[in-house]
Amino acid sequence: MIAGAACLMFWLSLLTEVQGTIFDVKKFGAKADGKSDDCKAFASAWKAACSCMTPSTLVIPKGEYMVAQLMFQGPCRAPVTYQLQGTLKAPTVMNKMNSQDGWLAFLDIDGLTVLGGGTFDGQGSAAWASNNCAKTGKCNSLPANLRITKVTNSKIQDITSLNSKLFHMNILGCKNLTLQHITITAPENSLNTDGIHIGRSSGINITDANIQTGDDCVSLGDGSQQVNVEKVTCGPGHGISIGSLGKYRNEQPVVGVTVRNCTLTNTMNGVRVKTWPASPSGVASNMHFEDIIMNNVSNPILIDQEYCPYGQCQTKVPSRIRISDVSFKNIRGTSATELAVKLVCSRGLPCQKVGICDVNLTYNGNGAATSECANVKPTISGKQFPPVCTRTT
Ligand SMILES: *[C@@H]1O[C@H](CO)[C@@H](O)[C@H](O)[C@H]1NC(C)=O
Ligand SMILES: *[C@@H]1O[C@H](CO)[C@@H](O)[C@H](O)[C@H]1NC(C)=O
Ligand SMILES: *[C@@H]1O[C@H](CO)[C@@H](O)[C@H](O)[C@H]1NC(C)=O
Ligand SMILES: *[C@@H]1O[C@H](CO)[C@@H](O)[C@H](O)[C@H]1NC(C)=O
Ligand SMILES: *[C@@H]1O[C@H](CO)[C@@H](O)[C@H](O)[C@H]1NC(C)=O
Repeated sequence: MIAGAACLMFWLSLLTEVQGTIFDVKKFGAKADGKSDDCKAFASAWKAACSCMTPSTLVIPKGEYMVAQLMFQGPCRAPVTYQLQGTLKAPTVMNKMNSQDGWLAFLDIDGLTVLGGGTFDGQGSAAWASNNCAKTGKCNSLPANLRITKVTNSKIQDITSLNSKLFHMNILGCKNLTLQHITITAPENSLNTDGIHIGRSSGINITDANIQTGDDCVSLGDGSQQVNVEKVTCGPGHGISIGSLGKYRNEQPVVGVTVRNCTLTNTMNGVRVKTWPASPSGVASNMHFEDIIMNNVSNPILIDQEYCPYGQCQTKVPSRIRISDVSFKNIRGTSATELAVKLVCSRGLPCQKVGICDVNLTYNGNGAATSECANVKPTISGKQFPPVCTRTT
């Protein structure tokens, strides 16, 4: 009721504004001194904007705002624009989190626009030092910078995500979401700071992003469908990855992924598909990688169906994820290792319909680049440096 009244009041006073009703967090009491927790002001401003009957804009003016864990939850009555001009800062220590929690969450919103040139700063350096998931295999005790869940027909553009404690953006259960002109930055040695992770979502379009992290640049988990990744530059980090798939039961298919016009520099991998051995059955199909530049990438082209980090699986049992309709086209540049192309598919389910066209990868060291293939018979055309799958096991 109070939020509704506040909305009406602002609406009447700003009837002439073309952007719709404006809610400035400072008018709701945000101090922007970089120290006091401004959560309450953000929560009230969001509540007012979200309950507005007409399109509204939440404005976060320039300045530094300390905010603890916060959820921007819908459904909202009309489209909301979240205009971030300032910098939001996370507390350096956030205890008792699990993987479902983010520092900030956008949840259950239709018609959200996030823009404004501002920064979400996760202040992760202390957290990375205490991340021990290389030992435990469980990496879910730290928060992602942004959890974006059940957000539909929306756009996130012109913002920066900095030094997240874990993933920067975790996109789950979303439909028709465009991310444009996003900057993501964390140091190379920060653990599990994936740039953008997508799962169980469809119609996701990432375009014009610059992503430097300690883990995957863009990673697509199970249920990623109709995903388009375009004009993204990655590095340092682990590259663009589909998977890992097959770790859990009841995973949904990955279908329809295009990665195009991207540049990877000094990354551990280029474009890869990875599945766990001894997996439940699953599907990954219709995945296309084209017009990609590799600069000193360690594993530029990689299908790995024996993915098993930390030695926590039965490598002897083949993966049951069925990989089909995969193409690698116009991929060029340099490899930091001799083995530039590695396609290791499942012994139990060889990859089907894999196409390779116009690949020119040269090894940065002495000697020629090589390839390795197993359980795959790709269709090969155009340039072939190195020759691919001339020796298939
Ligand atoms: C997708 O979302 C955009 C807003 O970003 C909207 O303009 C467009 O109509 C939506 N498309 C569909 C098919 O709903
Ligand atoms: C992705 O978004 C960009 C920018 O809005 C647009 O130019 C492009 O056509 C979109 N691509 C797809 C496949 O929707
Ligand atoms: C995308 O392609 C355009 C035109 O070929 C090129 O100028 C640009 O550098 C490419 N961007 C990336 C990120 O590779
Ligand atoms: C190329 O990558 C390797 C392995 O990551 C790294 O050691 C080396 O410094 C890189 N070279 C350049 C010129 O960046
Ligand atoms: C392959 O790339 C190298 C180095 O970038 C270049 O010198 C060479 O001309 C290319 N080969 C073809 C056939 O395009």
